[in-house]
Amino acid sequence: MLIEMPRHTEIFGSIKIHEMQRVLKIDSGRFANPRAKDIPFDEIKDILRRFAIIVPVKDEKIHLLDGVLRAIPFDCTIIVVSNSKRDGPDIYKMERDLVSYLHDLTQQEILIVHQKDPDVGLAFHDAGYDHLLHKDGIVRDGKAEGMIIGMLLAKALGKDYIGFADADNYISGSVREYVIDYAAGFCMAESPYSMVRLHWRYKPKVIEDKLYFKKWGRVSETTNKYLNLLMSTHTGFETRVLITGNAGEHAMTTKLADILSYSTGYSIEPYHFVCLFDQFGLGIEDNTDADAAKAGIEIFQIETLNPHIHEEKGDTHVNNMLRGSLQTVYHSKLCNEYVRAKILEELGDILEWEGPKENPIMPPIREIDTSKFMKMLKSSAETFARFEQGAIMLEEEEKREYFKEESFQTVL
Ligand code: GDD
Repeated sequence: MLIEMPRHTEIFGSIKIHEMQRVLKIDSGRFANPRAKDIPFDEIKDILRRFAIIVPVKDEKIHLLDGVLRAIPFDCTIIVVSNSKRDGPDIYKMERDLVSYLHDLTQQEILIVHQKDPDVGLAFHDAGYDHLLHKDGIVRDGKAEGMIIGMLLAKALGKDYIGFADADNYISGSVREYVIDYAAGFCMAESPYSMVRLHWRYKPKVIEDKLYFKKWGRVSETTNKYLNLLMSTHTGFETRVLITGNAGEHAMTTKLADILSYSTGYSIEPYHFVCLFDQFGLGIEDNTDADAAKAGIEIFQIETLNPHIHEEKGDTHVNNMLRGSLQTVYHSKLCNEYVRAKILEELGDILEWEGPKENPIMPPIREIDTSKFMKMLKSSAETFARFEQGAIMLEEEEKREYFKEESFQTVL
């Protein structure tokens, strides 16, 4: 891959935020260039083998999920965490059948589990991590909650990198690019505590019967503005470096995943920044993790080559996302009266009669014994399945035998 070098890096305490980098070529020709970094595909492949991609899914069209799963590079492990309906038409069953069928055809390693499986709740309880459970012991609704289940499974498999891909993507090929972009980011990282966040080049909309290639969505534009303002008011120097406040498509090293806390639902992504600012930002003396503070935390923001087309979920959904995002900024340790007043003004009617609530925060997952967590799911969770990577490398002799088989000829 050929990718632009960042033109600027904002240093905020122990956090380094690299300015946006554009993908110049997904497949490059090893052209050394002072403005761009060439990353050989072997290096990318090496990262992919150590990568789990988590796909959170809730009642999406099965065709979309199918496209997303097929686009994720073979070397990665896929972890599907579903919160789809089970009553009426059992959508989860359709998803599991799809996963099993894809595994039959491809032999890629895939895991699947349902977020509301009572045994998933029990495994969390047993691990002493009740922060995402309802009183009845079942995991809450929420994308972040699903992502945490996925992260624990990725850790149990010993993965070094954990990434996310939404299930409602209409352009399967873009998902393949996202994963390769993540890997490229990690090839550039100098710190073991690093994160790659994607900025979509375009998010097309239909306006008066025509496709309009929009660059910014309302939620991301507003969230970015306030996250930048948190930094600017703290340093006294205005910045606009941060452009991926809501990046649903993101990935991080397992070492970083271990030290972050997580905010509920869709506020998880902006909270990554707030959590880092509050623990490792400029002027913070009592860093919660000395090793990470010393190594530094590196954030890459990569602009994709592909546009992003996904399901539109309506104004209420967008307003909830905006409220969740700005609530995280409002309750940051670094937020001063000026920024708070601006947020209240921005949220206006969206807040209705309430003030900005504090989103539930789930503490780091580092202490959870993930092998035990997965063992518990394997032994008792009805919805858990692990389809392991098959031995697919046939020797020449075996291939000849295989092609001779009658069944194969019938298929042909
Ligand atoms: N497991 C699980 N549990 N998955 C969920 C849940 C849940 O409770 N709720 C939603 N999902 C899945 C969806 O099925 C989809 O695959 C993904 O999470 C994203 O949810 P959407 O509802 O499609 O979100 P969006 O498209 O409006 O927003 C996305 O992009 C934003 C950036 O523009 C999300 O990724 C946001 O988190 C992100 O900020």
